[in-house]
Amino acid sequence: MAGSENQESGEGKRCRICGDVVEEFIDFGRQPVSDSFVMPYEAGQEFFFRLSAGICVACSMVQLTEEVPREQMFHEDYPYRSSGSTRMRSHFHSVAQRLLETELTGRDPLIVEIGSNDGIMLRTVRDAGVRHLGVDPSVRAAELAASEGIRVQTDFFEEQSARKIAASEGPANVIFSANTFSHIAYIDSIFRGVDTLLASDGVFVFEDRYLGDIISRNAFDQIYDEHFYLFSVSSVQSIAQTFGFVLIDAEHLDIHGGSMRYTVARPGVRIPSDSVAQFLRQEQKMGLADPGTYRRFAEETRNSCSELISLLRDLRAEGKTVVGYGATAKSSTLLNYCNIGSDLVSCIFDSTPEKQGRLSPGTHIPVRSSDEFSAPYPDYALLFAWNHSDEILAKEQEFREAGGRWILYVPTVHLI
Ligand code: SAM
Ligand code: TMP
Repeated sequence: MAGSENQESGEGKRCRICGDVVEEFIDFGRQPVSDSFVMPYEAGQEFFFRLSAGICVACSMVQLTEEVPREQMFHEDYPYRSSGSTRMRSHFHSVAQRLLETELTGRDPLIVEIGSNDGIMLRTVRDAGVRHLGVDPSVRAAELAASEGIRVQTDFFEEQSARKIAASEGPANVIFSANTFSHIAYIDSIFRGVDTLLASDGVFVFEDRYLGDIISRNAFDQIYDEHFYLFSVSSVQSIAQTFGFVLIDAEHLDIHGGSMRYTVARPGVRIPSDSVAQFLRQEQKMGLADPGTYRRFAEETRNSCSELISLLRDLRAEGKTVVGYGATAKSSTLLNYCNIGSDLVSCIFDSTPEKQGRLSPGTHIPVRSSDEFSAPYPDYALLFAWNHSDEILAKEQEFREAGGRWILYVPTVHLI
């Protein structure tokens, strides 16, 4: 496995929020940009960096120790499409519906979304005829949203772009962001942008993977370039304060393997809900600020990876066919760390047209359309998109009926 001999090299890293020392707890070694699914003729041209994570000794923010330049991750060909999951479409429809009924009821309200991708959330806002603007630098994804009549600005949200939006659109009643805020290392600039754009009584609502679930489920593959920060209620409360805001609500979400919705407002305008204090107590009990928690997590990660490699080697020795399912960004961490190539996992099936016909970043496993999964079924399928397991297992019910088995590695390596 890559990285383990390199444990100490992150020493001296400084917290991106408060500038104090970040203690590294896990090192996945040299990794490519996680969503750089390359054409066969581009293999080897991926951008590489050292993927390791640490915790700040002062503010407890869990973060990567190396930042990938944003243009390497989010560009014209960024292949992730939010609307590929029925469950996520329904989730974002409900999110939009709730915001429309609560925060967007005044005269000519405005909602701005940071990281609107293919318009999965704003579609519902458009249908309601409410003023909206999506901001996303990934051109092709933004074009898909625009083609549906959703208003999008192809740009990175930051202080400067927020100023321009505020000047042309006026104050936003809601700024929303899902699975994006944690991707942005330059969070100070985002908060200044939010400060410029948000109405005096407006709310900034964001959803991201929850550190508590990553630790308790040993979901180590949630650590990859795009997840620069792994938020907890405690660290979000602290950054909100640092930038002049207050965390007024936290709501746990059973999506993407465990997420949290945070609502932030200006001081004194909203009464914080009890949930914030409840999650803070729970996080203390879980030891989320305790370095020992992260040492155990790293140890369990190494054990899971060794176990998975042994299983895949045994299956190959027995002549079984093994494929991957879900060409996720997460899988890049696992595949590159464990050095799993097409000798152990012959191909990866995925429903995203933008990823099909390409190769997995770094390990160069071919990605094929999930429509071809059954022709013929393999003996085993390694479920990289384990966060969508209910949806995928239901869709691919016939695989198990035909004798196939799923391999999962979160929270531990097991077969179903
Ligand atoms: N919100 C969608 C969801 O939850 O499925 C998309 C999430 S996708 C993982 C992250 C998106 O954030 C990408 O479409 C990316 O282009 C966008 N993004 C990254 N940095 C951004 C920034 N500074 N401003 C706006 N969008 C950004
Ligand atoms: P995510 O975990 O980052 O959302 O990525 C999920 C990946 O899995 C994405 O590339 C689409 C793929 N996928 C399928 O191939 N089939 C499915 O039914 C679902 C829900 C996702």
